[in-house]
Amino acid sequence: MFDDIDKKIESKINSELSKKDRKKTLDDGFKKNKVVNEVLDKTTVLILYDLIKSKIISYVNGVVKSGKESVLFWAVGPEETNLALKVYLTSTSNFKNRSQYMIGDPRFQKIKKGTKNLVYLWAKKEFQNISKCYDCGINVVKPIHISKNVLVMEFVGSNGRPEKNLLESDVAEIDYHQSLKIISDLYDKANLVHGDFSEYNIFKTKNGLKLFDLGSAVDLEHPHSTDFLKRDINNITNFFVKRGLTVENPDDIFERITK
Ligand SMILES: Nc1ncnc2c1ncn2[C@@H]1O[C@H](COP(=O)(O)OP(=O)(O)OP(=O)(O)O)[C@@H](O)[C@H]1O
Ligand SMILES: [Mg+2]
Repeated sequence: MFDDIDKKIESKINSELSKKDRKKTLDDGFKKNKVVNEVLDKTTVLILYDLIKSKIISYVNGVVKSGKESVLFWAVGPEETNLALKVYLTSTSNFKNRSQYMIGDPRFQKIKKGTKNLVYLWAKKEFQNISKCYDCGINVVKPIHISKNVLVMEFVGSNGRPEKNLLESDVAEIDYHQSLKIISDLYDKANLVHGDFSEYNIFKTKNGLKLFDLGSAVDLEHPHSTDFLKRDINNITNFFVKRGLTVENPDDIFERITK
């Protein structure tokens, strides 16, 4: 039965697309291989439909945040669980900056050419990174599913409003120590370096800190993992210094984590 509905929906989308194609100007909506509101190309719409059909999500409530490279949607799962869909834009031109976090990582030796493939690989990489950390018991968002450029995870926050990150929160010594513990757990348990560890990418929840945005995380074998680790330690140290906390020397933290 679903196959029939599938075919109907696909053919409906296709017929809408070709209608739009025949028009001289495009008011809004689909145009073949183009994106709607800079987000939803046809493949992404079909992925959302597949996610609903396979009962990973029940429906999508709407956009929570839209950035240069991804848009975050608030969705609801079958058991009324709140989910976050991070939809990577396949039309982005910013992606070239990301190859530095992939080339040299032993997990991603074969990289297909083309922006779309790079975006899919990046999304998969983020999912793998989150999953590895989650399986190691590190405080990261719970991963649920990956399909091409759509990453499904638990929604951290309430009523469609994301939890505050560290920058938006009052912080204390315990947050500093938890941040360092996360960096060292990433290193020791998951063999990863985050690469973009900062006050922007850590939620402060009532149960402690929770890390997210792990697309840039690299394997320790990555040729720049040491530089990335130093930078992560420096970033978070600077943040807590700005907040008036007494911090440890970043070089000592680095030595301790890598010894
Ligand atoms: N699982 C989640 N639950 C709730 N909100 C989330 C979740 N993941 C991300 N967000 C929200 O979406 C924003 C962007 O997510 P993220 O940091 O992963 O993407 P990004 O690529 O860094 O985007 P940007 O460049 O806009 O910061 C976060 O700052 C956060 O507020
Ligand atoms: Mg971020």
